[in-house]
Amino acid sequence: MGLSAMFLESKARIRNLWRGIRERMKAKNTSDATLSYRRHAGSISSNWQEIGTYGVFLNACRVAAWRYAIERYDIETVRIIDFGCSTGSWAETWAQLGFTRMIGIDVNPDVVEVARGRLHEVHLGDGELLGTKFKSEACIGCNGVLVHILEEQEVIGVFMAAYKALKPGGWFICAVLNPDYYLSPGGYEPWMGPMSCTRPVSFHEQALDDAGFAIIDRVGTFIDPWFSESTRFIAENKALKFEEGLLKVFEAFAKTMREARELRPFSELLFVCRKPSGRPGR
Ligand SMILES: C[S@@+](CC[C@H](N)C(=O)[O-])C[C@H]1O[C@@H](n2cnc3c(N)ncnc32)[C@H](O)[C@@H]1O
Repeated sequence: MGLSAMFLESKARIRNLWRGIRERMKAKNTSDATLSYRRHAGSISSNWQEIGTYGVFLNACRVAAWRYAIERYDIETVRIIDFGCSTGSWAETWAQLGFTRMIGIDVNPDVVEVARGRLHEVHLGDGELLGTKFKSEACIGCNGVLVHILEEQEVIGVFMAAYKALKPGGWFICAVLNPDYYLSPGGYEPWMGPMSCTRPVSFHEQALDDAGFAIIDRVGTFIDPWFSESTRFIAENKALKFEEGLLKVFEAFAKTMREARELRPFSELLFVCRKPSGRPGR
């Protein structure tokens, strides 16, 4: 490498370092401690790559559901806004799904720094940034995020921001847990925990509709092996719970149910929503 190239590279490195420091300071100063996802930033960023066989299972099912939606609705895969991108844990997945430009948003400054090495562009922020910085986007994705936003108003705010950020005809695709088949500490019921929660699917349907979205489809992602009272014993058996072979069986079970367009056993649903063309926002 020539001297001028070395100079330019170290200048860019210093610029990035300063950017990181400035963003951390800004996040500290502007952090509204009353918002759960800011209060818990740092504890809610662990993603599928960090939770062993269960993470691999869960993510494979989510990717399959995304692929199903993209193929069924012929969704444009040029540019994706990954809302709640964590460390850029979906960088390779977005590419496998056909996306060529990946933009991340996350509220946690630590993961934003890592994601910058994996996605094309990464911004520190939340729904407010999504709704103000972006316009005319074709596709926004949101995986494993809403579960960590404890305030209903903030979830509604994310939907409204996504609506604003999309072009007419643009897609908003988000994963939502289904408490009927997702075992939380509250059982198979909506539950509010200290750092995560589950809400009725109908809450999301209503909020998406209120934001102006047309819900085009609901696609099943994963079915936990302990999805019902009759299989709950699996969650209580350490040897069985994350057993790879069993998870593989449930991955295949999910594929069959998804293709049969059956939603009932799914622990999580992928909402496939569209901003209607030619209609003003609400
Ligand atoms: C469990 S991780 C999911 C990461 C990734 N989407 C995946 O599926 O592998 C959730 C991420 O969402 C971020 N997050 C939660 N609420 C947010 C909000 N309101 N705005 C932006 N990011 C948020 C967290 O900081 C965290 O990094």
